[in-house]
Amino acid sequence: MALRLRFLGPLLLLQLCRLGDGSQGSPPHLVGWHGSQIRTPNLDALGAGGVRLERYYTQPLCTPSRSQLLTGRYQIHTGLQHEIIWPCQPSCVPLDEKLLPELLKEAGYVTHMVGKWHVGMYRKECLPTRRGFDTYFGYLLGSEDYYSHERCVPIVSKNVTQCALDFRDGEKIADGFKAMYSTNVFTERALDLIASHQTKKPFFLYFALQSVHEPLQVPEKYIEPYCFIKDEKRRKYAGMVSIMDEAVGNITSALKRYGLWDNTILIFSTDNGGQTLGGGNNWPLRGRKWTLWEGGVRGVGFVASPLLKRKGVESHDLIHISDWLPTLVKLAGGHTNGTKPLDGFDIWKTLSEGKPSPRKELLHNIDPIFVDPSPCTGSSHETSSQNNYFSWEDSIFNTSIHAAIRHGKWKLLTGNPGCSHWFPPPSLFNESNTLSLDPSTKKLWLYDIVHDAEERNDLSEQYPEVVKKLLLRLQHYYKNSVPVFYPDEDPRCDPSASGAWGPWL
Ligand SMILES: *[C@@H]1O[C@H](CO)[C@@H](O)[C@H](O)[C@H]1NC(C)=O
Ligand SMILES: *[C@@H]1O[C@H](CO)[C@@H](O)[C@H](O)[C@H]1NC(C)=O
Ligand SMILES: *[C@@H]1O[C@H](CO)[C@@H](O)[C@H](O)[C@H]1NC(C)=O
Ligand SMILES: *[C@@H]1O[C@H](CO)[C@@H](O)[C@H](O)[C@H]1NC(C)=O
Ligand SMILES: *[C@@H]1O[C@H](CO)[C@@H](O)[C@H](O)[C@H]1NC(C)=O
Repeated sequence: MALRLRFLGPLLLLQLCRLGDGSQGSPPHLVGWHGSQIRTPNLDALGAGGVRLERYYTQPLCTPSRSQLLTGRYQIHTGLQHEIIWPCQPSCVPLDEKLLPELLKEAGYVTHMVGKWHVGMYRKECLPTRRGFDTYFGYLLGSEDYYSHERCVPIVSKNVTQCALDFRDGEKIADGFKAMYSTNVFTERALDLIASHQTKKPFFLYFALQSVHEPLQVPEKYIEPYCFIKDEKRRKYAGMVSIMDEAVGNITSALKRYGLWDNTILIFSTDNGGQTLGGGNNWPLRGRKWTLWEGGVRGVGFVASPLLKRKGVESHDLIHISDWLPTLVKLAGGHTNGTKPLDGFDIWKTLSEGKPSPRKELLHNIDPIFVDPSPCTGSSHETSSQNNYFSWEDSIFNTSIHAAIRHGKWKLLTGNPGCSHWFPPPSLFNESNTLSLDPSTKKLWLYDIVHDAEERNDLSEQYPEVVKKLLLRLQHYYKNSVPVFYPDEDPRCDPSASGAWGPWL
């Protein structure tokens, strides 16, 4: 009889934006263990004793990554291909999708979520507590103030900016946490959940920190060790990474203190590339948050657990954020019968035993209405958004569409991938070769991404057969995608009655 593992301890998942740095040495410089000048002793130690994911991918933005984490499915299958869910859009992860916490609950887990939701809230059915979490404490949108927990939203149709609280305990508005820094508040809640976990049931904690998203705010004492960083944004960002690292340390210690660690799997994941306009950095990778370049999609991640059969190793396998759902549900002894067809793979044997990854291909995204909203100085794509000349490639797939796909070592990008420069960290301002010299008419790139992670040598002309094969794959995905769902903002979205952002339908 096969032994069926059933974990009594928690599964823990942390998620936040990328901690890019990039100070010195060979690629990539992302966190302390990659040689960053930002110190992350807790992450370094956990990563060093676990499996560090060195070819790990997320989506280039927050809502998309979280939607894929929770559904195990690509955005082309949920309608969320385009941007994020903005505060007043009547949209959420489709209600007929079965989410990770629901599947874990079916497998007998107690499910908790602390932190950032950002996958829609316009009606009550979309809230975390209605989608599989037994408890929830956090905020529903994105970009709030770390202390007041308010989010200010420009309402275009009314020509006003409306500010209101966005903080909830369960479904109730939580207004008692003003002036308390979110990382501390969230960590305290996680510690309470760990301390009060007395049942024999296993538990799942999705701990989605606000760090290190903008606005750049952090208590002064965390910035002090970084006074040598001259760039102010970068300095604050470093402090924010430090307190996030401390939070992970506190939670890990608590798991050990309460005897839960031996049976815990801790997964650490960013949710998109660093935003270079807000202190983040992806050097020497190309691009940044919002783009399909490696700087937008290559994530920082590791798994730490006494249950791993191999420890202290680097994984160079292709792994994607959509892979966690099948992996965790299987580990929990659950089943994925209730889901729609998954795009994620169960990668536990790859992580734990070093077996080859079942994932050979990764669709980064196809977004036919993409526009790059952030300033990208010096970019040719900024001025020329449309390029209608027809090439042989267009007879297979419309290469004006923003799309990217990975297959084995190859990566193909089409359309406008987003801001195409390389952004050195402020400490390396002397670097040259940072501006993209691609003409604005260019709309197709092919890279051997394993050997050219910086995306500098376009091989599309040398390998037309590879281009053709990947375009056929893109067309296959495109043909089978659902239309983009990106509704206009709803004027009924109005926090003034309740005093907080929340469901309005
Ligand atoms: C929007 O509001 C600003 C400031 O109140 C005003 O100057 C502007 O004319 C308004 N725009 C429209 C389209 O009403
Ligand atoms: C971690 O624990 C220490 C000691 O209790 C505390 O001072 C600190 O604020 C905690 N850090 C966070 C991020 O909550
Ligand atoms: C899930 O599907 C498998 C394979 O079809 C089946 O053996 C199993 O009984 C199903 N589980 C549930 C709970 O339906
Ligand atoms: C190709 O895609 C672009 C961008 O989405 C679109 O504007 C254009 O109409 C498409 N062309 C055709 C022939 O479908
Ligand atoms: C930029 O300066 C750094 C630190 O002084 C140095 O290591 C690096 O080689 C320089 N890069 C270039 C392109 O000159």
